[in-house]
Amino acid sequence: MGLRLRLILVLIIPLVLVVGVYGLVRIRHEQAQLLDEDRRNMAPTAKALQIAVENALRDRQISDIKRLLSEIVEYQEQIDRIRLFDRKLSPTLVSNPLSIGEEVPVEAVRRVIETGQPEGFYQRRGRQPVLFYLVPLRARKGEIQGAMEVVHLASGVEQKVQAATRDVWLRLGVLLLVVTVLTGLVLQRQVLRPLSRLMAGIRSLGLGQPGPPLPVERRDELGRVAEAFNQMAEQLEAARLKLLAETDRTLELEHQLRQAETLAVAGKLATGLAHEVGTPLNIISGRAEFLLQTLSPGDTRRPDLEVIVAQIDRISGIIRSLLDTVRPQKPEVQPTALAPLLDRLLPLLQHGAKRRGVALAAAVPADLPPMLADPNQLQQVLINLLMNALEATPAGGRVEVRAGRSIHEGRAGVAVSVRDTGPGIPPDLLPRVFDPFFTTKPPGQGTGLGLAICRDIVREHAGEIQVESRSDRGATFTVWLPEAEGHRS
Ligand SMILES: Nc1ncnc2c1ncn2[C@@H]1O[C@H](COP(=O)(O)OP(=O)(O)OP(=O)(O)O)[C@@H](O)[C@H]1O
Ligand SMILES: [Mg+2]
Repeated sequence: MGLRLRLILVLIIPLVLVVGVYGLVRIRHEQAQLLDEDRRNMAPTAKALQIAVENALRDRQISDIKRLLSEIVEYQEQIDRIRLFDRKLSPTLVSNPLSIGEEVPVEAVRRVIETGQPEGFYQRRGRQPVLFYLVPLRARKGEIQGAMEVVHLASGVEQKVQAATRDVWLRLGVLLLVVTVLTGLVLQRQVLRPLSRLMAGIRSLGLGQPGPPLPVERRDELGRVAEAFNQMAEQLEAARLKLLAETDRTLELEHQLRQAETLAVAGKLATGLAHEVGTPLNIISGRAEFLLQTLSPGDTRRPDLEVIVAQIDRISGIIRSLLDTVRPQKPEVQPTALAPLLDRLLPLLQHGAKRRGVALAAAVPADLPPMLADPNQLQQVLINLLMNALEATPAGGRVEVRAGRSIHEGRAGVAVSVRDTGPGIPPDLLPRVFDPFFTTKPPGQGTGLGLAICRDIVREHAGEIQVESRSDRGATFTVWLPEAEGHRS
């Protein structure tokens, strides 16, 4: 059952009951009034009749009286039958037979004969109320000799009552109709329409296509619901956008990780090529130039040798530019906060850390000032340091990132350290770890470029990278970068 029908029923059923009871009371009252009026109208008529009959009883024959009574019944609309009773309560004269039968209201007749007071009352005969009006009949000396019953079939009253009933019910019907229609309209405007708007809003929100905010036209409960819904939709939209941005950032980060790997491989190839091809090329170039110097200016072999030297230079140029492309680019520095960067980075490395059974954690003070850094390059530095630390740490170990403000050569900055609980770096290898291609990994597994790239990036930032190592405590790499101007607290 719909809300509209239910509310209408809740309103209408009590209304119908109240209105119905009121209608019945009204009809009863109307009927009682009409009957009462009818009875009161009968009193003077009955009185006149009483005098006429008393006189007739004294002076005339019974047959005359009967004729008189019949005539009265015939001409008087208000009278439908007249009966006379003697003191023994038996009927002595009847004006005419009547459909309601001959039953004598014995008790009433007796009372009237005993008290001498007229009496009028109604009795229902079938559906029709019948007025019985009884008056005493006195003899010449005043003693009561019987009673006269005047009967009036109150069908006119009944008709009036029926008309009044129809009238009352008609009015009540119209009232009910108006109330129902009005209630329906008010419900539609005030409740159902805002509700259906709310429902449409919820549906489209569920489908991920939020529509315009709901109108908040009123200060009532529905208005507040619409307001709360709008707020919720706004929050959901903000959360959705944030999620999208997070996803974008994560994708970007993964892309960077992949790129870092590709770059490392490309770097390995390029530098390998530079080393493997560059060394013999240097020898060839040296020998060619030496030969060139030994030849006399007019020697016919000179142009060929000059071509050889020029082509060797060209190959060297190609190798140099190849190396340039894999070197880190100029940083685009900007105020960069460490905490959000780690928040994005750590979840990506967490998987690998778990697989190795190594705990990975970061502790960054909330008031740490932002650094002046290229966020992407800083990220790459942290990735390289963290990967090294994770690779060096055995299961059960711990890798930790810490950060704090630090002054370096009189400049304010931030020091970020990556500490592990691995075996550390032997003292004799310590000076070489930042060299390109220095690696202790088995051939084909490490490029030995990770730390070299870190050092290049940090240098481009006018920062500093240091390593500390103790065999019993593992290695700690610390990167210092300048604090962003205007963010000093
Ligand atoms: N946290 C560390 N603990 C112990 N040794 C380390 C640590 N970090 C670096 N090293 C040593 O420094 C060497 C150079 O590291 P670098 O990151 O430059 O290259 P790699 O890690 O060997 O190769 P790649 O980075 O390509 O995987 C490593 O091979 C390792 O011997
Ligand atoms: Mg490495």
